Amino acid sequence: MPNPLLSRARDILKANDLGTYTVPTHGLYPFQWNWDSCLTALGQAHFDEARAWTEIETLFEHQWEDGMVPHIVFHKEDEGYFPGPDVWNTKRPVPTSGITQPPVAGFTVRRLFERARDRDLADRKVRALLPKIHAWHEWFYRCRDPQKTGVVAVIHPWETGRDNSIDWDDAFSKVPTDGVVPFIRRDTQHANPDHRPTQDQYERYIWLVQAFRNLNWDNTVLHDHSPFRVVDPGFNAILLRSCSDIAALAEELGEIKIAQQSRQRVAAGASALEALWNDDLGQYVCYDRVAGEQIKSASVAGLLAAFAPIPEERMQGLASRIRKLAQTSRYAVPSHDPADPRFDGARYWRGPVWLIVNYMIADGLARQNQTDVAESIVNSSISLIEDSGFAEYYDPITGEPCGGLEFTWTAAMVIEFLSLSATTLEDLKAASGLTNPNEIPIVK
Ligand code: GLC
Repeated sequence: MPNPLLSRARDILKANDLGTYTVPTHGLYPFQWNWDSCLTALGQAHFDEARAWTEIETLFEHQWEDGMVPHIVFHKEDEGYFPGPDVWNTKRPVPTSGITQPPVAGFTVRRLFERARDRDLADRKVRALLPKIHAWHEWFYRCRDPQKTGVVAVIHPWETGRDNSIDWDDAFSKVPTDGVVPFIRRDTQHANPDHRPTQDQYERYIWLVQAFRNLNWDNTVLHDHSPFRVVDPGFNAILLRSCSDIAALAEELGEIKIAQQSRQRVAAGASALEALWNDDLGQYVCYDRVAGEQIKSASVAGLLAAFAPIPEERMQGLASRIRKLAQTSRYAVPSHDPADPRFDGARYWRGPVWLIVNYMIADGLARQNQTDVAESIVNSSISLIEDSGFAEYYDPITGEPCGGLEFTWTAAMVIEFLSLSATTLEDLKAASGLTNPNEIPIVK
């Protein structure tokens, strides 16, 4: 009997597929999101490789001339989302937002390439995508690290993908709200307001959008003008992993320059990441570039650093930190330490579990010999889906499904996680259209 979770996951991917891109969920997020699409492609590839490549290609068709890949592509009009294209006003042929998101594309493309059943197709796709992904990475180092520190800053919380994290509370309080044009939020019409960011946070999000719009979205000046400039260890880990992955691909395809430049970025970035380690918390933390100090906040961003090549001692530290967190929450990995009084188990990035983050942490741990902790994250993730379905995120203590439902990247991660679990290998073989599970391990 095929595992019902697999068929369910596949149905969700199909239901949210609009042909050349996939919406994260209907209603709440009716457009294409950057890192959602890349992680979604991993799930799609199990049953339709060509479709998976298209997902990423569509995203890169909207890359800006300066190299940035925007966080949202507004392929068609939809009144049900705020802030829409008129608020961003980026003046693109197809409207996009004006900020970016975690650059997971390099990682995804390598994974798709390595697992490819259609080698010719994969070869062609990677040759075309490689320079574009590299241009995006170089954009980061040029525009978001003007002082050449080796690590990049984000200039808007939405860029991190962890919109309302406790990490931003102090830094974000310096973003004003005066002059924000009154607006009506749409997110709270689709999802429980107790699971979403506050009105005050939304006003600051929009203040930043208006400020950047007034600077004509010119990335040569946005970084220095933004009152919010934060170095996020999880975000940088994703960038470093992607640089390292495209370096490997470039070597294989004989793209020597891309390989060399990417390797240099990884070496510099990995050593710069060290400044984000915090001994008291036993994990990496964010750094406020405006205040010039570490942000003492125990969020999952510091654990996501495991996704990058980091020293063995640090990896062991992260593994023991995750083991400790497991004693305080029923499901791994909470997006914030439940022991922190600011923890909120149902409110978006202030506590809930997100499957995509679990996936990347587990992958990083497994690559660097922490397989037991990696496996416990995978098993916990599967139990969570069995107990609570395919939500956007979950309360780590109660398992309550939160935010949007029938969520695309959650479904994609379920397919990935199930491909790891020995007990489901037979199910995978039986599920029609899925690839040979032996070809798709994520734990190496
Ligand atoms: C929310 C999440 C972000 C995600 C988007 C679409 O804004 O915080 O990470 O990309 O929704 O799913």
